[in-house]
This record gives sequence, structure tokens and C-alpha cells, in this order.
Amino acid sequence: MPPTAKPEAPHPDFCFRCIACGCLSDVASQDFRCANCADLLEITYPQWSGKGVDGRLARETWFGRRVSREALDLSGVWRYRELLPALAKDEQPITLREGNTPVYELPQCARITGVPRLFAKHQGMNPTGSFKDTGMTVAATFARRAGFRWVACASTGNTSASMAAYAARGGLRSLVLVPEGKISWSKLSQALDYGAVTCQLRTDFDGCLRLLQELVRSAPVYQLNSINPFRLEGQKTLAIELLEHFDWQPPDHIIVPGGNLGNSSAIGKALLEMRELGLISRLPKLSVIQAEGANALLRSIREADGKRLISVQAETRATAIRIGNPASWKKAVHVIEATGGACEQVSEIEIAQAKAEIGAEGIGCEPASAVTLAGLKKLLQQKFVKPDESVVLVLTGNLLKDPDFTIEFHQGGLFKDSAEHAASLNRLRRPPIVLDASLDAVIKTLEQAEKS
Ligand code: F0G
Repeated sequence: MPPTAKPEAPHPDFCFRCIACGCLSDVASQDFRCANCADLLEITYPQWSGKGVDGRLARETWFGRRVSREALDLSGVWRYRELLPALAKDEQPITLREGNTPVYELPQCARITGVPRLFAKHQGMNPTGSFKDTGMTVAATFARRAGFRWVACASTGNTSASMAAYAARGGLRSLVLVPEGKISWSKLSQALDYGAVTCQLRTDFDGCLRLLQELVRSAPVYQLNSINPFRLEGQKTLAIELLEHFDWQPPDHIIVPGGNLGNSSAIGKALLEMRELGLISRLPKLSVIQAEGANALLRSIREADGKRLISVQAETRATAIRIGNPASWKKAVHVIEATGGACEQVSEIEIAQAKAEIGAEGIGCEPASAVTLAGLKKLLQQKFVKPDESVVLVLTGNLLKDPDFTIEFHQGGLFKDSAEHAASLNRLRRPPIVLDASLDAVIKTLEQAEKS
């Protein structure tokens, strides 16, 4: 059994607030649930309501840090530390230079959708290939500060890869719980290489998360799922960095994939906080897209007006978002409502098609990220998004995260029985071609490709 952690000391600059009963506390229990009503906690900064943050000064400071060589400034998360829980004096965070991710224009997808101002914020360009790193640098740093030796998570793959990396960098041990056979080899291989104790459980993600919640109540293990509010503070910086990129002129829409719903909650929290602090005067609409087979949020909004969670038995090849009982659903409903966003669902074929279209831009992403482009097409049909509006798709994971999906798609293994969509899918497929090693054969192939 690992040694017990030190009791957490109160923090001078922030406290925890329950999202349901509003109860405030200086410390949080290991399951990060409210002591009164067991709902989720969020981090809040009481001192902001007094003197706030000088918006102009903050913007100038953050911009100036882009040319600094300090470890804290080189991180695209800690660069915005005025909006994060404070580090102790001289404390160095566990960082891999996360954040600093590119915003790409998508000219071909812009033509396909008819939205000229279409951009992708590519979180797959983070150190372990997903957006999780921006949250992990904060949460792992606070785990170490609280004296924990073990950190743990349940995961569909990306959280485990990220946690294992940050734990290794910070001298912590890590325990990964993943659903057996339901995460990509590429993500599993990352957890192994970064030295995590990796358990493949005979259940789904929701079963892994349930078990983790029990574990942290009975052992001194620090949980690093997005229930952990420190994760969401780090993930907020996606939105801050995005607004800085656009010179603080908000885009009209931000579209994000929804799984356990931590990321959409974090982005929404950042938008609301930036408005409260006067950093932006207008909110982008934040929309969340789910796979049809893992559409708990969509059903909860459509069938229960967002008042209660309708869990589903999740099934989708976009394994990162194969989640039926999303923990942060209430937070997500709140930010969708507060920003005037929408929630949509997309089919497996729509996801694969969108993924190939993003790939053809020379960018690529994993299947879960492609729901954003597929969702945009739906939101345009519904006239929720207008063609003259600016749209940012949040690409959450790197193309290399799920090579099996990509290869199966291009080789024609995926959706081979779908006669209805054969033509549109075949147009996007680029299967590898096996040839004799002759100049003639290669030139013929080139000529054929030129005609197609
Ligand atoms: N996109 C990718 C690539 C993901 O890995 C995840 C979640 C999401 C989107 C959804 O984000 O859960 O914050 O709504 N992956 C988690 C994991 C669950 O364990 O890696 P969310």
C-alpha cells in the first residue's frame, strides 16, 4: 500500500465550489465531490470579484512571455498563470511545454462546408498528442504538492497516455484503468512506455471510472480524471490561447467533441471568466458534438431539458468518446446554455468522412476530433451556424493516435457494406498500392492517379 498523502493545506488564492449547492470549501476530498451533496466541484477565485485582473496588463504580460525562456513562460498553460491556481513561491510545475498549439486555416473544408472563415485549433499537437496535457500539467503539479505518491485515472486512452507522461516527469507512480480491447494500441503503447502500471479491465470506460472513484475513497491515490477540477483549470487555457491568437476578437462559434464532457466545461468556464474579467466583450457560442452511439448529453438535453442525465450503452469507433455516463454533464449543460451553443450528434460514416477531409488538409486528427467537422455540417443545415460566421473546430487528438481506424478506412474495411455511401466514401479513400518494383508500374500508377 502506498504511503498516505499529507493533509491538504488551504490555498490562499482559490477555493472549491459545488456546482449544485454552491457550497464553498478550502479543501477537497479525494473523490472531488461536495461533502454536502456529492456533486462535482469547480475551482473559483474569490479575489477576482474584488479587484479582478487588469485585462490590458494581463494581455500585455502574456504576450511578452512568448519571448521568455523561463520554464513557466515556455508552457502555453502556465503562461496564463494569473487565471490559474497559484504555484507556491519557487515551485516548478511538472511541464512538457504543453499548449502553444497551432490554429490552422482549413481551406478545403471551408469549400466543402461553404464557411470561408473556418479554423482548427489543433490540441493534438500537444506533447503526448492530445488536449489532455494542458490539464495534466496543472493537476499533476497539485498532486505532487499534496504529497501523493500515486496518481490514477480511468481512460479511453488519451488521459492515460498524458497522465503517465506527466507522472513520470514529476517522479510520481501512475495507475491506469482502461477498458480491455476498447482503446487504440497507440494510446496503450504510450502508457506502457511512460512506465504506468496499466490494467485492462473487462468493462467499459464507465465501469473503469466507477472503480476509480471507489479506489480513491479507500486508498491514498490521487485521481486525475476530469472530475478533478485542477484538470479543467489547465484545459481552460485552450480558450485563452485561442482568443489571444484572434487578438481578443471572439470567433462566432467554437465546436468541440463531447465524451466525459470535461473539455467543453473547461472551455466554457474560460469563456465566461474572460468575459467577467473584461478580456472579451462577447461570447462565442460553444457547441458540443457527440457520436450517435454515445449521445448521453444530446439525449439529456432533448429528452430531459438538461435537467437529468440519460445514460446510454456507448458504442462508437471513435473510441476516445465511447462514454455512456459522462461525469461532467451538468457543467456542459451550463456552458452550452450560458454561451447559447448547441448539442448535436453525428453518425459513424459522417465521422469517417470528416476525418478523411481533415486529413486531406495535411493536418489530420483522430476520429473523435472529426465529429467537430461532421457536426458543423449539421449545424449549418439547421441554420444554427451561418456561412458568414467564423468557426473554430477544436481538434482534440493527433492523427497518429488511432492508425488502425485510418488504415481500415482507406483500405475499405470500414463501412464496406454501406452501398448508399459507397461513392462518397470511395472518393476519399487512398488505399496503399502494392506494385512490382518497376519504373513502368510506378509511372502507370501516377498517370491513373492524375486522371482520378
Ligand atoms: N477527444 C479526444 C481525442 C479524447 O480523448 C476525449 C476524451 C474527448 C475528445 C472528449 O473529451 O471527455 O473532456 O468530453 N478522452 C478521455 C480519455 C475520456 O480518457 O482519454 P471530454
